[in-house]
Amino acid sequence: MFSHSAARALTAQSRARLFSSTASRQTKVAVLGAGGGIGQPLSLLLKSDPLVTSLSLYDIRGAPGVAADVSHVDTASEVNGYAADKLDEALDGVKVVVIPAGVPRKPGMTRDDLFNTNASIVRDLATAIGRVAPTAHILVISNPVNSTVPIVAATLEKAGVFDPKRLFGVTTLDVVRAARFTAGIAGAHPNETPITVVGGHSGATIVPLLSQSAYGKGIKGEVYEKLVYRIQFGGDEVVKAKDGAGSATLSMAYAGAKFTNSLLRGLSGEKGVVTPTFVYSPLYASQGIDFFSSNVELGVNGVEKIHPLGPLSAEEEKLMEACLPELKKNIEKGKAFVASS
Ligand code: NAD
Ligand code: LMR
Repeated sequence: MFSHSAARALTAQSRARLFSSTASRQTKVAVLGAGGGIGQPLSLLLKSDPLVTSLSLYDIRGAPGVAADVSHVDTASEVNGYAADKLDEALDGVKVVVIPAGVPRKPGMTRDDLFNTNASIVRDLATAIGRVAPTAHILVISNPVNSTVPIVAATLEKAGVFDPKRLFGVTTLDVVRAARFTAGIAGAHPNETPITVVGGHSGATIVPLLSQSAYGKGIKGEVYEKLVYRIQFGGDEVVKAKDGAGSATLSMAYAGAKFTNSLLRGLSGEKGVVTPTFVYSPLYASQGIDFFSSNVELGVNGVEKIHPLGPLSAEEEKLMEACLPELKKNIEKGKAFVASS
């Protein structure tokens, strides 16, 4: 999936840096929740990413089996599976940790309805990461992302090891959906219709900036309203179609692997890797919103540069008005959970 484009994307300089020492050759990636609906296909996709040299698969159920299966794929990386009591071993020496652990939605639920179960799962995993792999880059998939990312940040802060450059909420599925749905309307290839999606990852907090896209800016009226709704509530479409069997897993695994690959390219020295992600951000900090998704340049230290939003249309200004108060509430809920833990 990534081999040709990722290899081509490496400059001679970054390739030299990547292969210059034993230490830099080791790009160990852990998946926490590897036995789940997202975790399994995500592990498979990461096995096919040439920038991953070692995969560490952990779950409270089934990770050794997934690891044995995935390890037969004929790519160079090694794969190890870890059972429930082996979390510290799974995290030993990891550079990147991807977290899809936690329960998914059923029809009729919001992402926030998952808070009570997933908040403590994510907090406990973050505590272990802070202890065993404090310099790892952490990619949070578990919902509600608007709250779980602040939970990880506050947990690491309590442990004295929070580095905002190394924490990412994975909002790539919104970006993938926006490109795909816009391409369908414009009669174009999704590669031609990249859309910046900002804000957070749930309903009204998802704000697609269609006016900044050559194809998107021409979409108006009812077609525009329906497209924005579909991007904001695409997750519900899948939850409904799966009819009680969970939420998006395959498209999420694709999106999670895509974001991980972007980060690994940035970490390896490639320049100009820019993608939306939910990070500790100054953009709306003056309004008490210190986590926000916008275009972020990824580099050797993780977050290299947080880009401003750029010009917004009148419709997008309205979407932002709906986004900000909800996002603020979600973030505060995550912080309060850790403060009272
Ligand atoms: P799933 O139930 O199929 O898998 C979750 C896995 O997590 C299970 O294998 C479970 O054993 C494991 N798990 C539970 N507690 C754990 C712990 N303490 N440590 C390690 N593993 C643990 O669910 P899924 O469909 O894979 O979804 C996982 C999460 O991802 C959900 O919260 C879902 O809402 C979220 N999600 C996020 C996005 C996004 O865009 N960010 C997209 C889709 C789903
Ligand atoms: C999604 O956007 O598909 C995920 O956040 C899962 C969900 O609950 O909708």
